[in-house]
Amino acid sequence: MSEGWYKSLMPSAIKKIGVLTGGGDAPGLNAVIRAVVKAGTNAGVEVVGLEDSFDGLLEFNRSRTLTPKDVTGILRRGGTILGTVNTGDPFVKPVETSEGPRQYADRCVEMFGRMRFGGLIVIGGDGTLSIAHRFAKLGIPIVGVPKTIDNDIVGTTNCFGFDTAVAFATEAIDRLHTTAEAHRRIMVVEVMGRYAGWIALYAGVGGGADAILIPEIPYDVERIASQIRSRDAWGAHFSIVVVAEGARPNDGGVSVVEEATRGRPERLGGAGHRVAAALEELTAKETRTVVLGHLQRGGSPTSFDRVLATRFGGRAVELLLQGECDKMVAFRPPDIVAVPLADVVGRQRLVPPDFDLVRTARALGVAFGD
Ligand code: F6P
Repeated sequence: MSEGWYKSLMPSAIKKIGVLTGGGDAPGLNAVIRAVVKAGTNAGVEVVGLEDSFDGLLEFNRSRTLTPKDVTGILRRGGTILGTVNTGDPFVKPVETSEGPRQYADRCVEMFGRMRFGGLIVIGGDGTLSIAHRFAKLGIPIVGVPKTIDNDIVGTTNCFGFDTAVAFATEAIDRLHTTAEAHRRIMVVEVMGRYAGWIALYAGVGGGADAILIPEIPYDVERIASQIRSRDAWGAHFSIVVVAEGARPNDGGVSVVEEATRGRPERLGGAGHRVAAALEELTAKETRTVVLGHLQRGGSPTSFDRVLATRFGGRAVELLLQGECDKMVAFRPPDIVAVPLADVVGRQRLVPPDFDLVRTARALGVAFGD
């Protein structure tokens, strides 16, 4: 199949599109699916939901047509009605199909044609969007929708899921404040975010943390200890320390619970416990650690995430029908724009160390450990 063959499809020729969700889930996935199904159907296009990411293209029985009735009531639901997989790069593995063994990518491209799709909407994080970009280069018309609670996708100020994760982490910090104060303890709260400190920064500021450790600013734990001692000296006998899972000391690396395997990144974990152990030793204060983990990915999306996800879904359908492919919808307030996937994938949007929220937090006395 020659590259770009799909460009011969007139926008009006698109009568059927697929939608899939890939990578780790994030609150708002269902809101995007709902928007795609409603906008697509109302434009006279059949919308088919592919199960378990691109695996939904492997067999005819791994997808289903979705009508507005099928998506009624899912706006507020976490998770994804389509299922998702987070098992790495499908391009590296041959697959067993009902028609014999095939190369994964060849099978997906072949089935895309046999299922008479005019395009795909791919909702995912950097890993899934990178795969989408590779399929786009193989000729599948694709529009990507950025998803991750980590908020680290280049080209968009917000991914849906981030606001919900921050709201949850902020509430958790609120709750920890009262118990920390009652027991005069240090509470260390570990949040997700991989190599980006967005969740830690926003939840830390939103929850009034005393120290915030983010991957972009390597820390010296003694500086956090001295912040805690000075709080003790003026009468605040408790402290809240928010630690991003990717935070690292200036003389060490990130805390890893599982090394990377082929096509699958390393799993982070343990950053909070490492900081807590050091602080307990340095300050002689009782210290506890709470790892918020996957709770940050669960539950109902906030109204902000529902609206953002809905805008992304509606715009993605528009772009696909206009033939604007190999692009990702992005939030550039106040607009939803399209950016080339090529400019986005394989990169990370990190917290600039001189970001205004970092400067303001410092001005308010929050320690970053540097
Ligand atoms: O990228 C989203 C994220 O939730 C990260 O914050 C976290 O490190 C990772 O996924 C966890 O992945 P898994 O669901 O595979 O444990």
